[in-house]
Amino acid sequence: MRLDKLLSDRGYGTRKEIKKLLSKQGAVVNGAIVKDPGYQVQESDAVTFQGEEVSCEQFQYYLFHKPAGCVCANEDHVHQTIFAYVPNPKNTLFSVGRLDLDTEGLLLVTNDGKLAHALLSPRRHVDKVYFAKLDLPITDDDIKLFSEGVDIGDEKLCMPADLARANEAGDEIRITIKEGRFHQVKRMFEAVGKEVLYLKRESMGPFTLDDSLPKGVYRTLTEEELSFLETYTNHTKD
Ligand code: URA
Repeated sequence: MRLDKLLSDRGYGTRKEIKKLLSKQGAVVNGAIVKDPGYQVQESDAVTFQGEEVSCEQFQYYLFHKPAGCVCANEDHVHQTIFAYVPNPKNTLFSVGRLDLDTEGLLLVTNDGKLAHALLSPRRHVDKVYFAKLDLPITDDDIKLFSEGVDIGDEKLCMPADLARANEAGDEIRITIKEGRFHQVKRMFEAVGKEVLYLKRESMGPFTLDDSLPKGVYRTLTEEELSFLETYTNHTKD
């Protein structure tokens, strides 16, 4: 990709503005100053512009710890969106699936539609693990019903879900679901007469939220996490 296009795509200005900036200060590519806007950047190049590292990868992947109070949308007239936290200057990024306004936890943000499709495809049965606090403790009957497939009023029953107590009282739980229906976890508990008071997604497929990532903060993927992506897409990575 051309250097001016890369910098423009990353939100540093229009191509015209970038050409001007490059002619004055240049960018640093693999340690050398480059002023040519048409310089062909490779994915493996290390680019710094205005003192910031610029990712040259075609696809961008971020793991975001979504806080409550923001919506998974690119625009919303009422609520703050996740892009108040994750910079999205060219509006090319989107979240892989959605969490409700009041749900916290792991969210993948990317510009890779193929990955999003693969992770969300109902046929893939990607495990999603949620931690929840309920108004009432779960029962053994709830665990059994969830393992068989609970009826939440859709055409089909939910796929079997693994439900387990996360505290002694049983009003804190961990649930693993393989689908991503609208308000699914809340509706599953509603079906057994319980209300979800707090909900957090802890993992999605091979991606796990670790304690080191505070709420409202995003990070790039680790090498290991990037290698998981190949399981879901056919993008080849060097
Ligand atoms: N299930 C829900 O009910 N809400 C979410 O945000 C995610 C799963």
